Amino acid sequence: MTETMTTPQPEPPGFPSDRTCPYHLPEQYNRLRDKAGSLHQVTLYDGRRAWVVTGYETARALLADPRLSSDRNHEGFPATSPRQDGLRDAEPAFIGLDPPEHGPRRRMVIKDFTVRRVKAMRPGIEQIVHGFLDEMIASGPPADLVSRFALPVPSMVICQLLGVPYADHDFFQDASRRLVQSVDAAETRAARSELADYLDDLVADVQHEGREPREGLLASMAAEQAAQGTVRRAELVSNAILLLVAGHETTASMTSLSVITLLGNPEQHAALMADPSLVPGAVEELLRYLAIADVAGGRVAKSDIEIDGRLIRAGEGVLISNSMANRDSSAFEDPDTLDVRRAARHHLAFGYGVHQCLGQNLARLELEIILTTLFDRLPTLRLAVPVENLTLRPGTTIQGVDALPVTW
Ligand code: HEM
Repeated sequence: MTETMTTPQPEPPGFPSDRTCPYHLPEQYNRLRDKAGSLHQVTLYDGRRAWVVTGYETARALLADPRLSSDRNHEGFPATSPRQDGLRDAEPAFIGLDPPEHGPRRRMVIKDFTVRRVKAMRPGIEQIVHGFLDEMIASGPPADLVSRFALPVPSMVICQLLGVPYADHDFFQDASRRLVQSVDAAETRAARSELADYLDDLVADVQHEGREPREGLLASMAAEQAAQGTVRRAELVSNAILLLVAGHETTASMTSLSVITLLGNPEQHAALMADPSLVPGAVEELLRYLAIADVAGGRVAKSDIEIDGRLIRAGEGVLISNSMANRDSSAFEDPDTLDVRRAARHHLAFGYGVHQCLGQNLARLELEIILTTLFDRLPTLRLAVPVENLTLRPGTTIQGVDALPVTW
């Protein structure tokens, strides 16, 4: 029999759950993983039900399925907290568009994220990494790794790429944090509107007649908007918010959680220290293992979909959990073990299909340089507090910590 959402069942478990360890999945997720099948019903914060996908093959198939939509304004889209409800009526960035509208908008920016373009950024990123490390080392130990290093590095990288003045970092780091972390719809709306006003002013500035042509993606997006005449200004600003926020929040979280995870797995840490050529593979494994953007796989069904013995009906919400898919033993042997020598590149931490992370080449390079340089320059780096004392972000947002006291 094909099970549907209306098949009577006891109240499905709540989703998402908070982690109690930075790198182990919540117990609730382990219980879902233990159940037969790769799709299960869960209850969202507002009492509505949705499907959660726990199996790797089903996750990949659904991420590539055009019958699922990324439209966050669709009433069936599975909001995992009031935060997402606060963004429902905002102009969508291309992460919220479906084909055929999605492709042309993504192509407006893709040339700046190709492997070749990102490779050319290596010397600049190395300089930024050393610069913030110099400052942190000069004023410590101890230090807060998040505010002194993990956040400023990707923040400065994305500023240079976009052409946003890094001098404004206090403002946009705070607004970005509120945008991804607020639990309250009104606060989320306010943070988004502050970022929109700020980026709108920058776009107006680069478009100002008689100005010298400016460097950066914001200027090239604005030039293309003017040339094409088809992209609305509000859309351009939404895409700029997406790039600015995604560009630093994610890599910052990966940096902090990677450090915590490696220090908590001393043999793996020692293997990396002994052989830095393992770092690129370790980055893939850490991306798999940590799956920080777990709630990024929200979709809503545009038509009925039968998959793995379940029937997803049109209008129902689907949450494709990359944290659980990345720990499916049919795709990764001994998945709950961190193994920096594992071939893990087929993980789903960057998603899959048309929305697969645009910034993945940049994120990989940043993380490779960050981990290599950090452990090379601070071989005795360790946490300054017990790991249990760290405050973890809730399961509703990008996983991470907002402060990480370290010493060396
Ligand atoms: C370690 C870091 C990162 C992780 C784990 C991550 C994760 C993800 C995931 C899972 C998606 C897919 C969302 C979906 O399916 O709806 C995504 C999309 C996206 N990411 Fe990342 N990301 C990271 C870094 C970055 C960086 C550095 C940027 C740079 C600007 C970026 C920009 C984007 C954009 C623009 C999209 C939307 C792509 C589209 O809809 O076509 N990400 N990311």
